[in-house]
Amino acid sequence: MNLYGIVVAAGRGERFGVPKAGLVVQGLSLWQWAVAALEAAGAAGVIVVGEVPGGIPGGARRRDSVAAGMAALPPDATHVLIHDAARPLATPALATAVIVRLAVGDVDGVVPALPLGDTIKRVEGERVVETIQRTGLVAVQTPQGFRLEALRAAHAADADDATDDAQLVERHGGSVVYVPGESTNLKITYPEDLALAEALAP
Ligand code: C5P
Repeated sequence: MNLYGIVVAAGRGERFGVPKAGLVVQGLSLWQWAVAALEAAGAAGVIVVGEVPGGIPGGARRRDSVAAGMAALPPDATHVLIHDAARPLATPALATAVIVRLAVGDVDGVVPALPLGDTIKRVEGERVVETIQRTGLVAVQTPQGFRLEALRAAHAADADDATDDAQLVERHGGSVVYVPGESTNLKITYPEDLALAEALAP
């Protein structure tokens, strides 16, 4: 297994208000936290995509930024961890759990995920139209691990958008499994999430 990492740190941060790449938690930029977790878990190298020191240019959509990262991987890479810079609190232990499951060798992708705590409803405007049975639903995080060949094939198979890489692999008929995620592995989406990360960071 020649494992590398890609940290996606591009995008405009529309919901946050400013690009998130340069935001700092306990003295380290979000992307630096993300890189450190992948390196500590054993990634041989980590490509950072985004306007950060040493980063390569991203794309219009997250999947385009991941594609840019894949194009920059060394030729000996066989497996890859894709991680959002927006998740600075993912621990090396979580990345390791993803790698260990991937190393079994029977699946194309591994994602960290947690059962939903909240009740989930479908709405139309202000109207609640349906309560979704949450049994069997999980909320998915990063880092996500893949056989590089499978991820490349999934990216080549269609041009539609996807909110994570596992979705592309699933759509292409690939096998994806999950390992338990971390409740502290929050995603910085809105400004108030930053204060939470600051409080939770080790
Ligand atoms: O915008 P959102 O928080 O969903 O983005 C998830 C992750 O994908 C972030 O780390 C962001 O930097 C990255 N991203 C990217 N290129 C884009 C859009 C998002 O690298 N075009």
